[in-house]
Amino acid sequence: MKILFTRSIESPLLEQISEEYEVVMWKEENSVMPRNELLKEVADADAIFTNLTDILDAEFFEHAKKLKVVSTMAVGFDNIDLQEATKRGIPVGHTPDVLSEAVAELALTLMFACARRVGESMQFIKDNKWESWGPYLFAGQKISGAKLGIIGMGRIGKILAKQAKALNMEVVYSNRRRDEKTEMALDIDYRDLTSLLKESDYVVMLAPASAETYHMMGYNEFSLMKETSIFINVSRGSTVEEEGLYKILKENKIFAAGLDVFEVEPIQQNHPLLSLDNVIAVPHIGSATKETRDKMVEITLTNITNGLKGERLLHTVNEEVY
Ligand code: GLV
Repeated sequence: MKILFTRSIESPLLEQISEEYEVVMWKEENSVMPRNELLKEVADADAIFTNLTDILDAEFFEHAKKLKVVSTMAVGFDNIDLQEATKRGIPVGHTPDVLSEAVAELALTLMFACARRVGESMQFIKDNKWESWGPYLFAGQKISGAKLGIIGMGRIGKILAKQAKALNMEVVYSNRRRDEKTEMALDIDYRDLTSLLKESDYVVMLAPASAETYHMMGYNEFSLMKETSIFINVSRGSTVEEEGLYKILKENKIFAAGLDVFEVEPIQQNHPLLSLDNVIAVPHIGSATKETRDKMVEITLTNITNGLKGERLLHTVNEEVY
């Protein structure tokens, strides 16, 4: 049986897997497997090790005549047409939980970096502009005692709430469904989106990409935030209308934004958002710690081998397939 890997992966598990299966791997590091190669190679593949940059749509599944299991090395699966997979009886696996702490830590990293103007300050030194200590030089915002508003209270949101509590933050959240058990357990409060945006000093987007969350933050929503508030997106770029974000930041009507994800990735160097001093941008590295990525590879591989043996995956997205 053939396993198609759309990225170059290293893992101690691969040795054993190569003995049992034919392994076909796209070897160019950090580059997306071209669409024509993907469609050609999946035609006789039994399994695919995929990631968020591959589009697994109806056309893909039409080419994948022998496919028995899909697993993405990610928690998000908005790039995969689940209906098409389920229709064909193909389980789709993903890698939740193991990355929650890493993604929450990146949200905090961006919060701190924006609050204390780390990007601008470093550029200031590099530009040789630092002449002396200044009473208000790069004065920013405080984290301790501030209010964090989390949009989307799933696995990552819960970890972030705990971490924020340890930093002496007050935490509120909005979510499709209110979760009173979590409110009690974490000592956090529910707010509708409008109240959350009005009250919070930090707003972190964690809602997954869907038709419902598409452009849920635009100019009008950002206008509800305080001038001193900071917006962070570590979810998916599609949740934010970038023109609205650019405008509000340019007008200094919010303090800063920290962005790990963008509507189009990679974001182009000449994108207006990157011209702003009050933006910190990183290249979709939410879960990128070595330990976390190793675990994500391990789970993806296990999902695949389980699926090929006709067993349940460790984490199935489309449970209804069973
Ligand atoms: C990364 O964005 C993921 O979904 O794991």
